[in-house]
Amino acid sequence: MATVEETKNSQYFIELEEKHGAHNYHPLPVVLDKGEGVFVWDVEGKKYYDFLSAYSAVNQGHSHPKIVDALVNQAKKLALTSRAFYNSSLGEYEKKITTLFGFDKVLPMNSGAEAVETAVKLARKWSYEVKRISENSAKIVVCENNFHGRTTTIVSFSNDPDANKNYGPFTPGFVKIPYNDLAALEEVLKNDAQNIAAFLVEPIQGEAGVYVPDENFLKHASELCKKHNVLFIADEVQTGIARTGRLIACHHENVQPDILILGKAISGGMYPVSAVLANDEIMNVIKPGQHGSTFGGNPIACAVAVAALNVVEEENLSERAEELGQIFRSEIDKLIEKTDLITKVRGKGLLNAILINDTPESSTAWNLCLQLKENGLLAKPTHGNIIRLAPPLVITEEQLLDCVRIIEKTVLEFGT
Ligand SMILES: Cc1ncc(COP(=O)(O)O)c(C=O)c1O
Repeated sequence: MATVEETKNSQYFIELEEKHGAHNYHPLPVVLDKGEGVFVWDVEGKKYYDFLSAYSAVNQGHSHPKIVDALVNQAKKLALTSRAFYNSSLGEYEKKITTLFGFDKVLPMNSGAEAVETAVKLARKWSYEVKRISENSAKIVVCENNFHGRTTTIVSFSNDPDANKNYGPFTPGFVKIPYNDLAALEEVLKNDAQNIAAFLVEPIQGEAGVYVPDENFLKHASELCKKHNVLFIADEVQTGIARTGRLIACHHENVQPDILILGKAISGGMYPVSAVLANDEIMNVIKPGQHGSTFGGNPIACAVAVAALNVVEEENLSERAEELGQIFRSEIDKLIEKTDLITKVRGKGLLNAILINDTPESSTAWNLCLQLKENGLLAKPTHGNIIRLAPPLVITEEQLLDCVRIIEKTVLEFGT
């Protein structure tokens, strides 16, 4: 195993980041240097299972050879043109992604947050120009405890003080309702549908702690939106691209959103690629010059995304996530019977979380993650006492069971 120079150990890199980088993250103390499939290695050469997958970006596994080839070949040929010109990769990618997800058009962006911003702008513009809401009064309904990214507009409708404290003044035009609450959605739509452009929702709330809504919540919510001429926007940045056992989580309930937001694993985590998909009636409200991005739709992004989406299909990643997710939850359920430390496992496909039997303010989940790291598995707490467990979808059943053994050993030894 090739490692970086001996003097440049983990401590060296941690200190570099601490000294020269903004402290906007609190990483687990591990310095990664290499990845392949479900594994990553630190600078000392220690091997770990990756059970975070860069927040579900690396669904296709680290450095998938077909995605690496696409990146390298395209980088050697043409990297960036801007959208001032056509390029020979964008159209092929647009055809691939719209066909795969069943929409007329895609608007390419880079980060997940940019795609959410794009969807917000698109829904507002549609609401003024097609639905005919009076100027500057369109509202978008969102859910409590949402996570849609970090821009000023997006944090304007967050209720996480870490995300929005002292970042005001905020963008108006958002109405918050509890997640998974059809009655609240119906109420707000009934009372104010003439001013509501859209309902923006995560099909499973990932960052909030992998909250899975009641069965048919999405189906009924999308029906309510249709009834009131309100757009149903699904933010599948984290849940999309096979993660939950379907190509998008909405497919569990046969829902086709009016606007679909994708990011992260569109590129297998190889490159920042995000997308907003919609049909012509909606997408055509944006005309030349009215929205864009220098890097959105660049040739490398397009070549990488086509390769990464092909991998999802060729390697049946949705089916794998569905099958392995069930095995994983049933194995963790068996562990829950042997310990008081975990109270619950929940999730869909290979997007799961375990709930630690302590307060959200406690450091128990963090300490357990430190111990998991010692035992060769990397995971991170979200919201204090919840640990998200989301390996790359290329994991084999044997590897998954090996991970269950690591989790079991760590949990049973913990605190002893
Ligand atoms: C549901 C959801 N939307 C949007 C985002 C933002 O994506 P990005 O970090 O690429 O801006 C995330 C990131 O975790 C997410 O989970």
